[in-house]
Amino acid sequence: MKLEEAKKLLEKCGQEHVLAFWNKLGKKEREALLAQVATIEPESVKYCQEALAKGADVPDSSKGKAPKVAVLKGKKLAAAVEAGEKELKAGRVAALLVAGGQGSRLGYDGPKGCYSIGPITDAPLFYFHARKILARTIRYGRPIPFYVMTSEANNAATVECFEKNDYFGLNPKDVFFFTQGMWPGMTKDGKIILDAPGHVFMSPDGHGGLLAALKKSGALADMKKRGIKSVFFFQVDNPLVEIADPAFIGYHVMNKSEYSLKLCAKRDPKEKVGVPMQFGKTFRMVEYTEMTDEQCNRKAKDGSLYFLYGSPAIHVFDREFLDREASQPMPLHLAFKKIPQVDGKGKVVKPTEPNGYKFEKFIFDILPKAKVAAFLAFEQKDEFSPVKNAEGGDSPATCKADMQAKWRRWLAEVGVTVAEGVPLEIDPLYAVDAADLKANGICLDA
Ligand code: UD1
Repeated sequence: MKLEEAKKLLEKCGQEHVLAFWNKLGKKEREALLAQVATIEPESVKYCQEALAKGADVPDSSKGKAPKVAVLKGKKLAAAVEAGEKELKAGRVAALLVAGGQGSRLGYDGPKGCYSIGPITDAPLFYFHARKILARTIRYGRPIPFYVMTSEANNAATVECFEKNDYFGLNPKDVFFFTQGMWPGMTKDGKIILDAPGHVFMSPDGHGGLLAALKKSGALADMKKRGIKSVFFFQVDNPLVEIADPAFIGYHVMNKSEYSLKLCAKRDPKEKVGVPMQFGKTFRMVEYTEMTDEQCNRKAKDGSLYFLYGSPAIHVFDREFLDREASQPMPLHLAFKKIPQVDGKGKVVKPTEPNGYKFEKFIFDILPKAKVAAFLAFEQKDEFSPVKNAEGGDSPATCKADMQAKWRRWLAEVGVTVAEGVPLEIDPLYAVDAADLKANGICLDA
């Protein structure tokens, strides 16, 4: 982009101040600033300003009801597994990972997926995800293309981690990296923030940025070309997730659902997970921060929690639904933060109080748009143990303990007792469930 073009673009959205220090910048800084300006879309600036004007109006969830959640057992479970396996054998299933987050709560600098979690091997989170995909690819004889969303900050390191590890055994042709968008930060009055004289403060546009990024990168077109129908979505921090689980895929297609969610009983009433609620004929995810104490603690007739089920962010989307929604605007969530900002003289000031807004989109905001949505219950201990914090709950320690407890349960199913405290790790390529262990035999490394 040339300076004149940048001026025109910024004028169009009332952001001329972005070039205020142009004359003081060196050649490289000028080039970098022009490159940043080129990524700013006037419509997006307007959209952010409108969101600011509206304020963080949290939608009323007081009329929300608990949705009907299916628990599959016996014949129903077998039918769902059969339907899911049919999809997998026909190559109509893709895996979609959002891994653009920053892992700041964990205190880890690199991409969270590179974080070591293997209790014995120290293998990274990406290893467990990729090997599960590989295992199901081999089991069903068709590739499960793997789409990985990164951010500008972690894309290079993510790709490097896959390359260094030979894609964990996956065929690189079936792995598609794409980068989410960035939004400029803004002051209360809708002015873009400069965090250095030649630099706009920008932050990732949230996991909801997935839709625009899928379209822009050509990933959606690639899915279509490959004949994908169901897209299994998951988050990077949960190595227990059963990727492309046939029962879930089957349940989704049998219901002709556009957006299906796996849900698990909350571990405590105030657990920090989103809770899907029903409003008339549609559904919406209500974040834990939006729920009142009364809603969190409300009891059903049988004494259990009324809003029992939380979302571990494990979804299946119909590909055509993603395609349809990719061109639609999504709501913006505002976060008021302390953002370094240059003053009138070009000096960078580090604020002690929040001074500016970051904007994020959340993927579950498309839930009300689904013509059909379906909810499936599962056991938290089997599929959800995220690594969010450095210590305490949802930490590497709890996650490793949960992974090993799951493997211990599988081994117990095939008649092998492993005492608690004995380190344990199973390569997903060797077994993705107890049935695999039985089929492959067990060789314990004493
Ligand atoms: C999220 C969900 C919550 C759910 C919980 C389950 C939100 C707002 N809340 O909470 O409903 O119950 O997970 O663990 O999402 N990511 C990106 N780009 C971004 C931001 C995040 O790709 O710009 C990815 C992260 O890499 C991660 C996932 O999205 O894989 C979730 O992000 P995180 O910030 O950890 O979400 P939580 O607040 O823990």
